[in-house]
Amino acid sequence: MHRTAIYPGTFDPITNGHLDIIKRAVKIFDTVIVAVANNVGKAPLFTIEQRVEMIKESVKGISQVEVDAFNGLIIEYCQQKGATALIRGLRAISDFEYEFQMALINRKIGKDVESVFLMPKEKYTYLSSSIIKEIAAFGGDVSCFVPDVVKRHLNDKYAETKEHA
Ligand code: COA
Repeated sequence: MHRTAIYPGTFDPITNGHLDIIKRAVKIFDTVIVAVANNVGKAPLFTIEQRVEMIKESVKGISQVEVDAFNGLIIEYCQQKGATALIRGLRAISDFEYEFQMALINRKIGKDVESVFLMPKEKYTYLSSSIIKEIAAFGGDVSCFVPDVVKRHLNDKYAETKEHA
């Protein structure tokens, strides 16, 4: 049986921590669809198209990965794609309570989709997209935290902001 998993998130932007989770997920599943949320309460820095493009570029060498955007409930998207699993990364104990709540709600909505939690390498456990944006906004070097394509986009974005300031 072909096993498809969905890895959802805002990915504003994707980091090396997310990539680490994707590389672990492809060892377990035949296809991993990285699904970029279009409707979250966050006000993303990058457009949905930019976030999708940056992920596509970052996963170029990994053949089992697809990248897509989704609207609405993640469980409905999983069902549309015939996915049996929902991947989430657990970085620290502080992630647990929120993830536990999401997993239980998602299980209530869609009984056929199992949540699967993967832990990134220790060196990525303190990463988040917000922290990356903060470092980049103040001109810090984010090379060791994000793929090159993201670094370029962050530099462009904050150069734009400075020009208009
Ligand atoms: N490496 C680096 N950062 C990581 C990470 C990792 N391995 N794992 C998580 N993070 C970061 C993310 O970058 C994000 O950082 P930020 O807050 O600075 O932007 C944070 O941890 C996690 O954000 P969170 O909001 O918890 O999750 P998300 O943005 O990844 O995605 C959705 C949440 C989109 C999956 C969820 O809201 C959803 O499914 N929405 C669809 C609607 C729905 O179905 N709702 C019901 C679900 S209960």
